[in-house]
Amino acid sequence: MTKSTPAVLDRILTLELARVTEAAAVAAARLRGQGDEKAADQVAVDAMRTELNRLPIDGTVVIGEGERDEAPMLFIGEEVGTKDGPKVDIALDPLEGTTICAKNQPNSLAVIALAEGGSLLYAPDVYMEKIAVGPVYPEGLIDLDKSPSENLAAVAKAKGCEVNQLTACVLDRARHAKIIEDIRSVGAAVLLIGDGDVAGVIHTTDPEETGVDIYFGTGGAPEGVLAAAALRCIGGQMHGRLVLDTPEKVARAKTMGVEDPNKIYSMNEMAKGDVLFAASGVTDGNMLDGVKFGKGEIHTHTVVMRSATGTVREIKARHQDTTKFSV
Ligand code: FBP
Repeated sequence: MTKSTPAVLDRILTLELARVTEAAAVAAARLRGQGDEKAADQVAVDAMRTELNRLPIDGTVVIGEGERDEAPMLFIGEEVGTKDGPKVDIALDPLEGTTICAKNQPNSLAVIALAEGGSLLYAPDVYMEKIAVGPVYPEGLIDLDKSPSENLAAVAKAKGCEVNQLTACVLDRARHAKIIEDIRSVGAAVLLIGDGDVAGVIHTTDPEETGVDIYFGTGGAPEGVLAAAALRCIGGQMHGRLVLDTPEKVARAKTMGVEDPNKIYSMNEMAKGDVLFAASGVTDGNMLDGVKFGKGEIHTHTVVMRSATGTVREIKARHQDTTKFSV
């Protein structure tokens, strides 16, 4: 368990965050399976922004929907909250797994992380190479510079099992062909996911429930910071390296404070200080249930976490006032 710096953020905020992700999840869930990623994302953004602006925080979005010119709302730099509270940095993804939601497949989430100002890596919207494991392993076990098979051997040794008893979660992308081949070459199982690597990384924290021991592969850098924030609270280890493969990306990252384009960031470097994290299920997943619409009520399933204590709370809520969530 990675207990961290003393609590700076009011613990009440952890529970308040549940309202924010619940609202985004319900809005997106109304458009599940409609095949329209953009529409589902937009309603989730609107709902999350409305709820965020009710929170007693002086917040700045540092990981958001994109730059101001491409994202009219929840853009990087947007100020949110009532201003009547602590200065915080916010990383958010109102609908993580837009395609999953549009296809009504498992594990799309509404996600947010909140940290003391200056505590989250200001990651540009590029790819990030990632590796992650859950909380039970000795520090320094995984290494992004080593091959998947070498990392699997280290995990098997630490877990006290054979490599062929391990499962690695990987995004199903052509760019991962070598990683997948290497994992299979040592007999470990590959769990391919279509989208949603925030959930993929978090799944490593509970192998008995999810069947996932380790996460490998390249996905969005913003999603990497969100996943690191979650792991800071639950415990685990994660490394990330930005993929800055053009001079433009290197220059863009530099304006955001990235001096070394090849740097490997640890979980603690991606999300330091006091961190709060919340996620609500949009579609059913092996960590969270999706939103259920009943007769006159809506059911949501949310997890909220806090790095200062390592407390992880699951909140199953029944909302009677369904008009509050109308879109
Ligand atoms: P969206 O929610 O923006 O659709 O992202 C889904 C996702 O699968 C992320 O979880 C992941 O980090 C990223 O896309 C991978 O990018 P790509 O689809 O380009 O491989």
